[in-house]
Amino acid sequence: MSAYEPVLLRRLGKKECQSIAGYRADGGYKTLERVLREMTPDQVTTQVKDSGLRGRGGAGFPTGLKWTFLPKGHPGPVYLCVNCDESEPCTFNNRVLIENDPHQVIEGIILASYAIRAKTAYFYVRYEYGFGTRQIQKAIDEAYEAGILGNKILGTDYSLDIFVHRGAAAYICGEETGLIESLEGKRAWPRIKPPFPAIEGAFRKPTIVNNPETLANVVHIMDRGIEWFKSLGVPPDPKNPRDAGSYGPKLYCVSGHVNKPGIVELPMGVTLRELVDKHGGGVWKGRKAKGAIPGGNSMGVIPESEFDIPLDFNGPGTVKALGLGTAAVTVFDEETSIVDVLYNLCRFFAHESCGQCTPCREGTGWMLKIVERIRNGQGRREDLDILEEVADRIGIMPGTTICGLADGAGWPVKTAIRKFRPEFESYLKEGTRGGVRLKMAGAH
Ligand SMILES: Cc1cc2nc3c(=O)[nH]c(=O)nc-3n(C[C@H](O)[C@H](O)[C@H](O)COP(=O)(O)O)c2cc1C
Ligand code: SF4
Repeated sequence: MSAYEPVLLRRLGKKECQSIAGYRADGGYKTLERVLREMTPDQVTTQVKDSGLRGRGGAGFPTGLKWTFLPKGHPGPVYLCVNCDESEPCTFNNRVLIENDPHQVIEGIILASYAIRAKTAYFYVRYEYGFGTRQIQKAIDEAYEAGILGNKILGTDYSLDIFVHRGAAAYICGEETGLIESLEGKRAWPRIKPPFPAIEGAFRKPTIVNNPETLANVVHIMDRGIEWFKSLGVPPDPKNPRDAGSYGPKLYCVSGHVNKPGIVELPMGVTLRELVDKHGGGVWKGRKAKGAIPGGNSMGVIPESEFDIPLDFNGPGTVKALGLGTAAVTVFDEETSIVDVLYNLCRFFAHESCGQCTPCREGTGWMLKIVERIRNGQGRREDLDILEEVADRIGIMPGTTICGLADGAGWPVKTAIRKFRPEFESYLKEGTRGGVRLKMAGAH
């Protein structure tokens, strides 16, 4: 692992490569030029499909396969929506990409748009990313000037426009159909599926939604080939018939109670322990870790004893967490109360629920109220069972909500209670931690 040379972050720190001149001098856009001249859109789709690339936005859906869901021979327009909403707490891999290497992302967007025969791509970017938005817009402007965007790209028959759309500053804007609604100028209320966006998406036309990191990977799959991509990462787990493998490089964010928070690019499958101890510089203040959120708030929490899991698409599931998510690891140390951790997680989801579905709107609110009550020292033993029951019943998977936010709200609750139950029980009994009354100021 230590010999791995970054690909996606190769230009990090090379400020000159942020301009189109520097990017081209460093070999940028050569892959695009070759692909546009020598390959058909279907060949690009096949190469991406055969590489085993899975989406980096959270769900891990196979990218090339998703592209094939577009209706065959559709007269168009077909759209690409780039999902740079990135509101998952502690996740900043897209921000690092667009701020430091915007042309790499644009090259990926053009390749993907060519593959799906889109002539328009929308770059939907998190509202709070002011600098990133300026960087991507500047790079788009430069690309137009250089004939890399617009009509007849690089003298070929392919044309593409990219429009930047600033997000509406809510977590739900990252859910792909919420994003599409927001792009259309409406409130980001996720749509009932089917129809999926590939059939009916932006402006009711076939649409592919992909994450910037996913698209940056496309550049390297087209440049270095399938074998290279598959030489990184891990093959499918034979014990899990639904696992499609986790290939290629991945950007991992490490934050929370570590000495060296930051981002690192590694082949898929690094263990959580290596990420924390080696790349995150270990737990701060000489303490031990109590646990971590392995891939963004929606994935759940796991105790330190499970840190040896590989962070690939399959690994977190082996310890009954939801999945890899955004691969953003947030560590909490041994002095942190799990009740506080869960309270913060519940607060986030109750605030971000868009309110369309009763089980999500009410369920996230109930869970917050119950955890708040426990935190205030007024919890009851049966609260833990009620929390688990609510968490199990809200979400797409039990079939009670429109989108996955509710599933994401449930996983931290059920994993926290299942994996840290003794701490909750002793908290309920004592209402204290380390002898200190934890009642919040102002609580009754
Ligand atoms: C509540 C919620 C928030 C999401 N936020 C994001 C996000 O910020 N960025 C993202 O790429 N995907 C996000 N997703 C996943 C998208 O719906 C979609 O699966 C993804 O953008 C597809 O891109 P990919 O296949 O390249 O991963 C979110 C999903 C849910 C349910
Ligand atoms: S699950 Fe929650 S966030 Fe998703 S549509 Fe329903 S209410 Fe909105």
